[in-house]
Amino acid sequence: MDSIEEKLLELLKKREQAKLGGGQKRIDKQHEKGKFTARERIDLLLDDGSFEEFDMFVTHRCKEFGLERLSYPSDGVVTGYGTIDGRLVYVFSQDFTVFGGSLSETFAKKICKVMDMAAKNGAPLIGLNDSGGARIQEGVLSLAGYADIFLRNVMLSGVVPQISGVFGPCAGGAVYSPAITDFVIMSKNTSYMFVTGPKVVKTVTNEDVTTEELGGAMVHNQVSGVSHFAVDDEKEGISLIRKLISYLPQNNLEDPPMVACNDPSERLEDSLNYIIPDSPSKPYDMKDIIHGVVDNGEFLEVQRLFSPNIIVGFARFNGRSAGIVANQPNYLAGVLDISASRKAARFVRFCDAFNIPIVTFVDVPGFLPGTAQEFGAIISHGAKLLYAYAEATVPKITIITRKAYGGAYDVMSSKHLRGDFNYAWPTAEIAVMGPRGAIEIIYGSEAKAAENPDEFIKQRETEYRNKFANPYVAAQYGFIDDVIEPRNSRFRIIRALESLSTKRDTNPPKKHGNIPL
Ligand code: HXC
Repeated sequence: MDSIEEKLLELLKKREQAKLGGGQKRIDKQHEKGKFTARERIDLLLDDGSFEEFDMFVTHRCKEFGLERLSYPSDGVVTGYGTIDGRLVYVFSQDFTVFGGSLSETFAKKICKVMDMAAKNGAPLIGLNDSGGARIQEGVLSLAGYADIFLRNVMLSGVVPQISGVFGPCAGGAVYSPAITDFVIMSKNTSYMFVTGPKVVKTVTNEDVTTEELGGAMVHNQVSGVSHFAVDDEKEGISLIRKLISYLPQNNLEDPPMVACNDPSERLEDSLNYIIPDSPSKPYDMKDIIHGVVDNGEFLEVQRLFSPNIIVGFARFNGRSAGIVANQPNYLAGVLDISASRKAARFVRFCDAFNIPIVTFVDVPGFLPGTAQEFGAIISHGAKLLYAYAEATVPKITIITRKAYGGAYDVMSSKHLRGDFNYAWPTAEIAVMGPRGAIEIIYGSEAKAAENPDEFIKQRETEYRNKFANPYVAAQYGFIDDVIEPRNSRFRIIRALESLSTKRDTNPPKKHGNIPL
């Protein structure tokens, strides 16, 4: 019988072998492509020495296509748990050096195990994706494995934060797991996501398209909105995951973590008194307002490249996490369109699911007109945002900086959708529509009959502006709680958030609502 020393040696050898994944040659190839291995990624992600691995000795069970003679311990995915800044997270990291990171029956079971543990222990799940999709030799077992993961993604949704790093291929059915997760981070030039690849596209639609053009990081960050962050390399992507986690609670039963704040809560930001241009058609950068009011000017923008006419992201107020939603007058005048509505609605729902208060800055001329928008179902997409704000029970603070016109006034966290604190700056204009459009509708025929139609319209516009282009009519009705000096915004928000820290609000019991998807 072997001595304990020999047994320990054997264990050590097995571990070393498992750590090599598909072998040194394939590891070198991975590095040549500018990519890290699955284990290197985990080392970068977790606090030093905190990783505890599961299922290192698992191998596949496939007996087809010669695979019975070829297997690697861990079977292409490294799984386990560890900490980020001392807080527990569960992780899986796909190993491209083993059968191209393709998903087998046992590979899927390993992922399901950490997902189940994340659910039971109420800790975030982080998936690092780098995979050629279903392991072709395993057939339907691989498809079943994917579906087992999808089911868990859905069950975990809104229970623990789920974050996906995509650092290599993510094709076919592999895309749906990241798509269900809360945030997708893609590395530029080394990652891609698509349901069907360029070859199938060519066969079916006769389009010539490269992998990068079809599903690269920029496509999904700028065009489709599938991804939330595009990073230059994996290191940046992994440190971004650590940062993102710092704003989030561990699960839906916790509040987000508080951090020490050295930025005075009473700080006045004088520049905000002068930020709104004299002309209502002149743009300004809403990000200057955000940076001016949040702790130390730090703002983690989500989906920065997608639909820039609306801004979403995380910041802190006196150490307390908040989700920020803001129209961006600097881009398309901050109009609400299909993509802006989708982007903001999903973000609002994430914040609500995880007890993160929402601070909304409003400067919106309305919804974007046109056939493209109407045919594309702006009605349903705009309703998503309205729905998301209406059902959200987290603290909701709204500041109207300038325009709040029409349906967009209602949608953008208005009092009527259970806004807790609705403030306006003296520069706010709250009306059913902009002066020019309103006057043309109300006085169209009179204007035509007038001696000088231009002069007539101008005069009526001035009257309309004097009557409605201010915050006081809404304030008279109590739809605006107070008209505040812009430079006071930071401390007014902080006070409001503190007063709402014990807020309790509910929706009627139901299985689930029917958001217009
Ligand atoms: C088994 C696979 C594999 C797969 C790659 N490999 N994909 N093995 N099943 N799906 C293996 C290769 O045989 C190779 O093995 C190694 O991984 C590396 O692959 P390469 O092709 O050499 O690498 P590269 O040139 O970088 O190309 C990567 C790739 C390509 C673009 C991902 O491998 C590829 O196109 N793979 C197939 C993608 C695919 O069609 N997947 C199935 C999708 S269907 P060796 O031994 O040489 O190292 C699907 C349906 C799921 O996913 C639906 C669920 C709902």
